[in-house]
This record gives sequence, C-alpha cells and structure tokens, in this order.
Amino acid sequence: MNVTRIVLKDFRSYESLEIEFGDKTNLILGPNAVGKSNLAEAIYYLSAARSWRSSDDDSLIAEGKESAYIEARIHEGSLRRTVSIEIGKDQKRVRINGKPVARLSELTELVNVLVFSPSDVSLFRDSPSDRRAFLDASLSKQDPRYLKSLSKAHSLLRERNLLLKQENPSRDLLWAYARQLAEVSEIIVRQREAYCESINSVLPMVLEKITGEPSDCRITYKPFLKPGPKFVERAESLYRDKLEDDLFKKSTGIGIHREDFSLRYKGKDVAQYGSQGENRICALALKLAPYYLVKDEARKPICVLDDVASELDAARVANLMKIVQEDLGQTFVTATELRLEGASIIDVADHNATRRN
Ligand SMILES: Nc1ncnc2c1ncn2[C@@H]1O[C@H](COP(=O)(O)OP(=O)(O)OP(=O)(O)O)[C@@H](O)[C@H]1O
Ligand SMILES: [Mg+2]
Repeated sequence: MNVTRIVLKDFRSYESLEIEFGDKTNLILGPNAVGKSNLAEAIYYLSAARSWRSSDDDSLIAEGKESAYIEARIHEGSLRRTVSIEIGKDQKRVRINGKPVARLSELTELVNVLVFSPSDVSLFRDSPSDRRAFLDASLSKQDPRYLKSLSKAHSLLRERNLLLKQENPSRDLLWAYARQLAEVSEIIVRQREAYCESINSVLPMVLEKITGEPSDCRITYKPFLKPGPKFVERAESLYRDKLEDDLFKKSTGIGIHREDFSLRYKGKDVAQYGSQGENRICALALKLAPYYLVKDEARKPICVLDDVASELDAARVANLMKIVQEDLGQTFVTATELRLEGASIIDVADHNATRRN
C-alpha cells in the first residue's frame, strides 16, 4: 500500500504542508531539527492514530494551536481512500472517505505502517511493555479478531483492578472476571505464540540481509501460561492460587499484560550481551520482519525508517538500502545525508518540506 499525498495543518512544526510522495523510496533529507521525523511521524500516525514518539497527543499539536490535522490519500491495489484525522486537545476524529469511523480499529485494519526509530536500539533492554506493544500492533494488523480479544482482556483487567482496589471486594465478582480473562487469554496467548514462530521463520533471513553473514537469531515468547490442552482450566486455577496476592497488591499480578519475549543472537541474549550495534540491527530486523510475513502485495505495509543510517557502519547501511530498494515497497527514510539512486527526494528546511524530483 502507498500514501500518495499528505496534508498537514498545525502538526508539530508544520503550520501548513501539502506534499506528494513517490511510490517507492522517499528520502526525507535536511539538517537537524527541521522536521524530518515530524513528517515521518505524521505518516506513521495514519496507521493507528498513535505516535511512536509520544503517548501524549497534545505534543503533536503545534505550539499555541488548538488542534492538528492530517489528511492522506492511501492506495491499496486499485482501491483509493482518503483518511483524515483531527487531533484535538481531548479527542481525535478519524474519517475515512469523509465518513467518521465508529471505532479506531477501522483505521487499524485499513492502513499499515511499520516504523523503525532511533529509540528501538533499546527495544530489548527497555520494559516489556514496548515489546508487547510491537507484538500487539503487528498481530492487530494481521488479524482484527486479535485486537478485539485484546481490547476485551484489557477492559476485564481494568474492571478487575478497580474492584481489587475497593474495600472488601466481592470474591464472586473477582472470580467471574478471572474466568472471563482465562477464556480470552487463551486466544491471545495462542496467537502470540504462533506469531513469534512466524517471526522466527523470517528473522534470520532479514538479519543476514542486513549483516551480510548467516545469523542464528530467534525470539522466545514467554507466555504467562504455556498454551496447550486445558488452558482455560489451568489459567483459572492460576488466578485462584494468586487471589490472595492480588488482593494484597490490589492489582492483577498474572496474565497477558505481563508477558514478554526475548531475542537470542549468536547464542546469547541480545539485551544482556549484545553491543549497541547488535541491539540496533536485531531491533531493525525484528521491526522489518512483519513486512515479509504479509503475502498479499497490495496489503504490504508502508515502511518508515527514521534516522536508520546513523550508528550503522557503511557496509550495513549499504545492505539496508539494498533491502529498501529491492524488497520493500513504499518506504520513507529520514537522514541528514544519504544518497540513493532512483529515490524521490524530499527536502526539509525551515519547517517546510518540498519534493525535489
Ligand atoms: N508541537 C510542536 N509545535 C511546534 N514545534 C514542534 C512541536 N513538536 C516538535 N516541534 C519542533 O520540531 C523540531 C524537531 O523536529 P524533528 O524531530 O522532525 O527534527 P528532525 O529534522 O528529525 O531532526 P534530527 O535530524 O535531529 O532528527 C524541533 O525544533 C521541535 O521544537
Ligand atoms: Mg529526526
């Protein structure tokens, strides 16, 4: 899929921008702090009405303004759609072809953008929530039913945790929540396990493309309970065993919200033993892996690689650019300097962006 044109109003440093993109590689070039990542962020925002840089939408609104606006033309095969998002201080409004969407999941299903950003260098060292966010975002794109199950689990957890914070909460009600959690968790754990295996089917290949040498590399999913026969019964008994703990801590201590995965590279855990560069290339390979798992050409994601060339040696940058040009579809690469034959160049300066070719 492609984003052919974007309009920004009061989005971060852009007061007003209208620009068309190339359908293959787009190089977003300019000195520091001119708005390259801001433009890349706007493109990514189309994917789930969420930024990768900030959980606070207010920071996306240009200073001193009340709201920000993004409008984009999305092509998927022969389908043409216009997505618009108005980001207000307290709410956002998403429209597809001018019609307001009832649920954000309508947008999630429609637009798929993968992102690699400088902060991903610490993906394996940071808290598990970032790794779960990767799994959840990738799985939600692959299967809308996953997002439904996940939302249900999160709302059950919220309710149960609220109840746990009350004086003498009803044990019957806590038990009822636990039973529903056990049921919905089975779906999530199964899908997460299967997805990690699919990632492993392409991860060594992607890493080899980046490093130029064969790599042994795999992720290990750490479910709160091993999937398999009688999962729901086993989960129920786990919740029963942990009830006193949960009552004491006033929150649910086990479940899909505590899961994690780790990555082994060259036989070692990359978070504990990997160099900065190894952490970077492993995160990059992981972030690109979902691209190779989408089989339908028209549904292949748009890729955003923010500042990807910095901190990589010249050989790796060259390998990566080969991936961008030979494997990936529409891709946005931000950099202060980079040469890439045949790429559409977008020059960013003074908080404005213009297409050079
Ligand atoms: N809400 C906002 N309103 C106005 N300006 C903003 C807002 N948020 C960020 N900026 C400005 O945007 C600029 C940074 O833009 P951006 O992160 O896109 O830079 P960049 O070109 O990617 O730089 P680098 O090469 O350092 O990564 C900063 O000058 C920052 O002050
Ligand atoms: Mg930047």
